[in-house]
Amino acid sequence: MKKVITYGTYDMLHKGHIRLLERARALGDYLIVGVTSDTFDRARGKINVKQSLQERMEAIKATGLADEVIVEEYEGQKIDDIRRYDIDIFTVGSDWRGKFDYLKEYCEVCYLERTKGISSSELRTEERKIRIGLIGDLASEINKFVNESKYVNGAEVVGIYNPLGTGKIDTIQEFKDFDVLLSTVDALYIAMNSFSSYRFIKSALKCKKHVLVESPITMEYCKIEELFQLAKDNKCILMESIKTAYSLAFSRLILLVKSGMIGDVISIDSTCTSLRKNKKDKRGSLQSWGPYGLLSIFSFLGTNYIKKEIYTKLDCEGHDIFTKINFYFDGAVASMKVADGIKSEGELIISGSKGYVYVPAPWWKTDYFEIRQEHIEDNKRYFYQLEGEGIRYMIVCFLKAIKTGRGDFYISKDISKEVSKIMDDFCGKKNVVYL
Ligand code: CTP
Repeated sequence: MKKVITYGTYDMLHKGHIRLLERARALGDYLIVGVTSDTFDRARGKINVKQSLQERMEAIKATGLADEVIVEEYEGQKIDDIRRYDIDIFTVGSDWRGKFDYLKEYCEVCYLERTKGISSSELRTEERKIRIGLIGDLASEINKFVNESKYVNGAEVVGIYNPLGTGKIDTIQEFKDFDVLLSTVDALYIAMNSFSSYRFIKSALKCKKHVLVESPITMEYCKIEELFQLAKDNKCILMESIKTAYSLAFSRLILLVKSGMIGDVISIDSTCTSLRKNKKDKRGSLQSWGPYGLLSIFSFLGTNYIKKEIYTKLDCEGHDIFTKINFYFDGAVASMKVADGIKSEGELIISGSKGYVYVPAPWWKTDYFEIRQEHIEDNKRYFYQLEGEGIRYMIVCFLKAIKTGRGDFYISKDISKEVSKIMDDFCGKKNVVYL
């Protein structure tokens, strides 16, 4: 019996896929189809896949062309599979010509002519795009968003409205009127000082537009509930932009810790610092870095802390250049250090009863972390691909949230609310010690 194997993502199964499978089947007597797992696709930079692994596998099975459907999960798996299943022919489309010649050592390799004029990427692009308007003056955030959105099928940046009228971005259309931009788009990305964003979020939600906003959503705790309610009433997504939350490494880290890899979490130390580059950015260290530090604490210990102490140092204009918050939980402690104008090692350490997690600086852009144990030989290292500082994953998640109606998958409402509460306490000088 001649055994044939082929691999692919098979997103939104189309006639190019079917023709490939028909010809692959005709090459032998038994056809195995390897479908890439979501993680493997993401790790190799394919972030836009619309259907889940299960949906894609079901679609292949439904064609009746495959004798067996397997999952492709890791780099190098093809060699393993060829040996394990005793494969005679490996085949893929001609777009991969030459790329799999290294498999000739193990079996015959056959490239089949790719069907012209169709691909999953094109089908994804043809779906109605989500039109996104940009609001704000945080030039660095906005520029990154514009660049990263180009990697995301289904997102179209329409234009920008900058209420301060400063820092023009040449590559996108500028709108002089907020309402005109609002009426043109499906969603907004708001990147401005959080003291000013409330009215824009509110107007957008009232007009049933989805909102992705630079964190914190608001500096006033009393307003956050109102905004979430407004989003719910209008069936809109209100999501906050803490990029790390959407990265694969960080979401995997949460799962590993929650599954007990380091035992009970007893202590967390999280540091995020930068030296001030943009003097015009008046957000202060707690507003610009605080959400990241707080995410790294609340994701593991929850938001029900018993007590907190805030220490801060202000510059001559009254903006905090350094802030440290100590939290006391039932059975655990955590400490967050943020600075904009003072530098320190930006690492994250989560200490537990069976070991600890070490995420090296800058932990908020991490593609790598270690779970360390008492004996060095038991340490485990984890690597994950991180493209574009995680911003493109965030945009993908935003579009998915719009489709599914669930925006709190990566950052829970509890965390968003608590971030806002801490900002409010800080501004209201509640339990704040000034250095
Ligand atoms: N394929 C083909 N003809 C097409 C599209 C795909 O023969 N028009 C083949 C590929 O060469 C591969 C298999 O189908 O062997 C699965 O391809 P996959 O990458 O899943 O499909 P694409 O449509 O190319 O997806 P994308 O646009 O996301 O790259």
